[in-house]
Amino acid sequence: MAAALAQLPVAPGSAVGHQGGDVEYRARAVQVPVLVIDSGEQRDAPPGPTLAAHRAAPSGHGLTLRQLVGGGAAMTGCTALVLGSSRGIGAATARALGAQGHRVVLHGRAPGEELAALGRELAAPTVAFDLADEAAARRGVADAAAAHGLPRVVVYSAGVNRVVPFEDASGQDLAGAFGVNVGGAVWVLQHLLPKMAAQGGGAVVLVSSIRGVDATASDRTALYSMAKAALGNLTVSLAKRYAPTVRVNAVAPGFTRTDMVATWDEGAWRQARSNLLGRPAEPREIASAVAFLASDAAAHITGQTLVVDGGYGLSGK
Ligand SMILES: NC(=O)c1ccc[n+]([C@@H]2O[C@H](COP(=O)([O-])OP(=O)(O)OC[C@H]3O[C@@H](n4cnc5c(N)ncnc54)[C@H](OP(=O)(O)O)[C@@H]3O)[C@@H](O)[C@H]2O)c1
Repeated sequence: MAAALAQLPVAPGSAVGHQGGDVEYRARAVQVPVLVIDSGEQRDAPPGPTLAAHRAAPSGHGLTLRQLVGGGAAMTGCTALVLGSSRGIGAATARALGAQGHRVVLHGRAPGEELAALGRELAAPTVAFDLADEAAARRGVADAAAAHGLPRVVVYSAGVNRVVPFEDASGQDLAGAFGVNVGGAVWVLQHLLPKMAAQGGGAVVLVSSIRGVDATASDRTALYSMAKAALGNLTVSLAKRYAPTVRVNAVAPGFTRTDMVATWDEGAWRQARSNLLGRPAEPREIASAVAFLASDAAAHITGQTLVVDGGYGLSGK
């Protein structure tokens, strides 16, 4: 019976909840229409959607109760926008999501051969805009959604790690650290999240860093560590704001072999090998964690930062 109920159609852009309950409260907070289940029937019913919800629901729409409760829309064959996918972890994530059957939209700061080559490999469209530039980011994400469809999966992997000694850091350095690492995520998600919620759900995964996790913040890159900590905090705020329709999580990679290794000196390489597994991660090993959090397998996970660091944080080195 429960399985049959879960497939019943209700209006897109709405939520289902008990009168005065959490779902009703949150749906109203994000201005998503809410279908309130009769509270008298609720007393005798098991948790979850009831027949009253189905009877009251307009029919003939594409979304089902399963898509609106229990963690948002089904995450298969969706449009997946991967910000910062021209290289590194983002490119590996685009490959992983493509392998899961998603229609991936690739993104880089500017059009270039790497981005174009990945587009050919995955038969995926590409978009390019500077996430550190507020106006360009706002315009870019709106254009991308208009041209390629509103995504159900959004991965934010764009980031830069410039090593600036704390004592020398200027206002420009601080703004630089927060521009692409945090600001871009804000501009993109401001545009997409209300629409994703209204569309019926989705999943967001922000790529943070172990440097944003208190105990593994860096003494060398304090500004980057601060920015990544802010991303973890944003993950929690947005998970609360957009529950239950959109899940928002983060992955915090440890040392990973990407173009960022160009910034590693001998000390960084030593650290990269000092985790419990004795080696840095490959980009696909981070991508699989991102793809997991974006998938239905993580339907009951939101507001979390998943550390993928080969045990670096536990190694005590
Ligand atoms: N590699 C590591 O060891 C490591 C560890 C922890 C966390 N992380 C995090 O993981 C994420 C991915 O890192 P990665 O190692 O894969 O980096 P990467 O290989 O250097 O790739 C960075 C990506 O971000 C994009 N990007 C950078 N600045 C941008 C801007 N202003 N506007 C738009 N796009 C921009 C780049 O686009 P273009 O190619 O067009 O420049 C590229 O696609 C980052 O957030 C990073 O902080 C990495």
